[in-house]
Amino acid sequence: MDVLEAAKERRTIRRFQDKPVPWETLGKCVEAARLAPYARNVQELDFVAVDEQERVALLNKAVNFGGIVKKQGRAKGEDAKAFIIIISENARSDSDYTQMDAGIAACSIALAAWSQGVGCCLMGSIEREQIKQILGIPEGFSVQLAIAMGFPNEKPVAEEANENDSELDYWIDEGQLHIPKRRLKEVLHRNRF
Ligand SMILES: Cc1cc2nc3c(=O)[nH]c(=O)nc-3n(C[C@H](O)[C@H](O)[C@H](O)COP(=O)(O)O)c2cc1C
Repeated sequence: MDVLEAAKERRTIRRFQDKPVPWETLGKCVEAARLAPYARNVQELDFVAVDEQERVALLNKAVNFGGIVKKQGRAKGEDAKAFIIIISENARSDSDYTQMDAGIAACSIALAAWSQGVGCCLMGSIEREQIKQILGIPEGFSVQLAIAMGFPNEKPVAEEANENDSELDYWIDEGQLHIPKRRLKEVLHRNRF
């Protein structure tokens, strides 16, 4: 799978098969994040990859799946099979760019996972203190993002949103999740706005 294909096909996955994610797969995802761009090359991030199922179960309780979807009556996805937690070392986070670095690392992980057949949900709505306790993360580190992972058990599709539509809520029909995306001609500005 080439990079453009992975970028176009990747969708957030919140329902997962009952199948473990191999440790090697998680390692390759972290390798992609390790080599990602960092502002000023600070590399303030560490990654806690979790495949031990007792700890995965605790993490599933410390994250909030799918806000907008939930309102439409979709069951919570509490069955991630692995997690990668992105943390930052406060003493090394000397720039304003830590959150951006974490986002770029998370995207690298999501694409690396997708290219290996594994789905992800990037998660910002998480119980950070609880996660620190579950994983034994020491003082001086902050939890940036959680990435819930597993082999997909759903096939969400991207749809072209109506032009200038500010309503970008997902919709579900026959169990399939549809994700409206703003159109290329609306977001791409050639040479000037
Ligand atoms: C920074 C960030 C935080 C997110 N936090 C959550 C979250 O807490 N819970 C959740 O279910 N999805 C979360 N998402 C996933 C988004 O809802 C999802 O990316 C968006 O709906 C678009 O769908 P797509 O990834 O399939 O294109 C987050 C995504 C990003 C980039």
